[in-house]
Amino acid sequence: MPTITALANQKGGVGKTATTCNFAAALTDLGRRVLVLDLDAQANSTETLDAVGEYDMYDVLRSEETGVIGDAIVETAWPGVSAVPGSKRLSLFEQESLMTPEHRLKNAMWQASGLEEFDDILIDSPPSLGRLTLNGLIVADRVVILTELEPYSIRGVGEFIETLSAVRRNPQLNPALRLAGIIVNKAKLNTIEHQEGLKELKAAFGTDVVRSPYLRASTVVPTSAGAHKPVSKMRGPVAAAIAEDYARHAKWLVEEVA
Ligand SMILES: Nc1ncnc2c1ncn2[C@@H]1O[C@H](COP(=O)(O)OP(=O)(O)OP(=O)(O)O)[C@@H](O)[C@H]1O
Ligand SMILES: [Mg+2]
Repeated sequence: MPTITALANQKGGVGKTATTCNFAAALTDLGRRVLVLDLDAQANSTETLDAVGEYDMYDVLRSEETGVIGDAIVETAWPGVSAVPGSKRLSLFEQESLMTPEHRLKNAMWQASGLEEFDDILIDSPPSLGRLTLNGLIVADRVVILTELEPYSIRGVGEFIETLSAVRRNPQLNPALRLAGIIVNKAKLNTIEHQEGLKELKAAFGTDVVRSPYLRASTVVPTSAGAHKPVSKMRGPVAAAIAEDYARHAKWLVEEVA
C-alpha cells in the first residue's frame, strides 16, 4: 500500500499547497507514482495540477459506500501525478449533519481499487482544524507540518501538534499517526527575525524534527504555481536551488519509511 502523508497546518498561506505539488513532482522524479488528495475547498492544488474530473472529493466524502475513491482519481497535467480534485462544495461538508463525518475518507479508501498503483499519497489539507483536516489525519501514516518563521508561527505549530496528540489518543481516530517533521517555508534567513524564529522553533520542537533544507522565500514559487508548473520546470539559478531543496525533502520522505 502507498505511504500516506498529510501536509498540514491550520494556519493559512504557509505553503501546504505549493509544497504538496512540488513534492509530488519531486517524488515522480524519483520514479514514484503519486496521488494528491485535495481536501481544501479552495482547491488550489487541483488548479495548480490542472486536475479535472467528473467526481471530486466532496462526492467521495458524501458517499456512504466503501472504496469509492477509485472512481474519483484522475490523471493531472503533471506527468506521473494523479489527483482526487477538491471543489468549493467541500466547504459544505464542514457543516452537514452526517454519520461519522470524520471517517468518510477512511471509508472511501477502504479496499479501494486503484490505490495499489501508487507509491505515495500526499494530502493537501485546508487551513483549519475542522472535519476535512481530521479526515486526512485519520487516514495518514505521517504528517508533515509546514510553517513560516513569522511571529505566532510557533504557537500555531504547537496547537497543531496538540491536535495530533488528540488524534493519536483516540483509538477511534489514528493511534499510529506519526509526526514526520516540520518543514520551514518562505525562510528569509538573512533577517534577524527569521534567524530568531528558527532558533525558537528548534528549541520548542527539537532540532531533528525541524527538517533542513529550509525552503527559502522566492517569487519563483507563486510564479510557477500561476504557470501550473513545478518549480523544477522554471528557469534560473534560484528555481534550480529551490527545486533541489524539494528533491532533498522528497528523498527523505522516501527514506523515512524505508
Ligand atoms: N517558498 C515560498 N516563497 C514564496 N512564496 C511562496 C513560497 N511557498 C508558497 N508561496 C506562496 O505563498 C502563497 C501561499 O502558499 P500556499 O497556497 O502553498 O499555502 P497554503 O498553506 O496551502 O495556503 P492555504 O492555507 O490557504 O491553503 C501562494 O501564493 C504560494 O505560491
Ligand atoms: Mg492550500
